[in-house]
Amino acid sequence: MQTVFGVDFGTTNSALSIYKNGKVEIVNIDELNANPSLMRSVLYFNEEDEIFAGQEAINHYVNDGAAGRFMQSIKTFLPNRSFEGTEVFGKKYGIDDLVAIILKKIKAKGEARVGCQVDSVVLGRPVLFSADPEKDALAQNRLEKAARKAGFRQIYFQFEPVAAALAFEESLSAGEEKVVFIGDFGGGTSDFTVIRVKGGAFARSDRRSDVLSLGGVYTAGDKFDSQIMWEKIAKHFGRGVKYKGMGKEELFDIPHSIIYTLCQWHRIPLLRARKIREQIRLIKHAATDRKPIENLEHLIGDNYGFFLFQCIEKAKCELSRLDLTEVRFKERELSIVEEITKEEFEAINTGNIGQIAGCIDEVVGKSGVSCDKIDTVFLTGGTSRIPFIRRLFEERFGARKLENGDAFTSVVHGLGASAPLFV
Ligand SMILES: Nc1ncnc2c1ncn2[C@@H]1O[C@H](COP(=O)(O)OP(=O)(O)OP(=O)(O)O)[C@@H](O)[C@H]1O
Ligand SMILES: [Mg+2]
Repeated sequence: MQTVFGVDFGTTNSALSIYKNGKVEIVNIDELNANPSLMRSVLYFNEEDEIFAGQEAINHYVNDGAAGRFMQSIKTFLPNRSFEGTEVFGKKYGIDDLVAIILKKIKAKGEARVGCQVDSVVLGRPVLFSADPEKDALAQNRLEKAARKAGFRQIYFQFEPVAAALAFEESLSAGEEKVVFIGDFGGGTSDFTVIRVKGGAFARSDRRSDVLSLGGVYTAGDKFDSQIMWEKIAKHFGRGVKYKGMGKEELFDIPHSIIYTLCQWHRIPLLRARKIREQIRLIKHAATDRKPIENLEHLIGDNYGFFLFQCIEKAKCELSRLDLTEVRFKERELSIVEEITKEEFEAINTGNIGQIAGCIDEVVGKSGVSCDKIDTVFLTGGTSRIPFIRRLFEERFGARKLENGDAFTSVVHGLGASAPLFV
């Protein structure tokens, strides 16, 4: 049988598996990354027309003093009709071109490993790119177009949580049957399925009838970072600052939309629009406290949102094992040290947790299987390490039923294992 690649193009991390001779292998795709089997799904364009991906992109961005254009969470834009692409140093890139750059690099790594050209790929996709079916189709079409531009000819899609289920299935002994709840908590989406799995079922031809239900929400790791930004850090960049309206004594709040955009890292470059910068400049002159607005101007102008969000993300990850940590950030004369406790992190995310919990209950409900009839809960994805996420499952299913896959490679492994279902 032919060789097929499995590619997990993630919001935060991407990975590659190779299906060959009935076996799945996960391949290193970024030697510079702390975990070389993952490549950060980021791009960096420098002023010399060079484009870098993964850790190399981050390194160049840092070394160039953030002079070029850095992009992350590109997957989030796939269902966004109004984001068709972007212009970088005078050149136009469609969103499919941007994704294709990453896919092409990954493809080349895989081909170097197998020593020949590979035309077929199983790509992962979240259960829902968007609740709007048209936008959902747009996202998948764009991803398919990107894969074609990267040089793939046969392109298949598999739901990410179903892929994770196939990875879990391999841990079962032959003939062992289970009904499993799969939770894949990534950077952009949390995806769920209730699915029947069976040990030794590796090459079964069609699994659709085993999938009892599917569902997902766009609430995952990135949203938790945004929430920390909103609650703890945004005050250093103007949240809460008032300014005097022109010719009036009345005080106004800085527009909510500016602070809201600031809290979504990948959207900060939108604040560079001339009109918005002019608006911020005017606010600064009429502000009750100018310093935070100056910080905001520096953040936008010097493009250091990435570094700020890295510090936030680091603190978030620390809270998965510590009760207390700090967000520490230093840039020029701005020095931020904000303590955050595990309880506080959970409290500020009550709304987000509620959305996830609602979706879990809906997916269990739709499956027609009650919680006590679900044998195992299999959790994967970086965000599944957060204790309050795990607790949602302990409360519903009991701690005994929880199992963990490799947080970052279960999905890509399952995409490789999906190959015989398609080709
Ligand atoms: N120890 C940790 N504690 C909490 N969060 C973590 C931890 N490690 C990683 N994360 C978070 O996990 C997310 C990345 O996980 P993952 O690589 O599974 O996502 P992805 O596959 O790129 O995204 P998606 O599946 O949504 O497209 C990031 O938001 C990251 O901050
Ligand atoms: Mg993922």
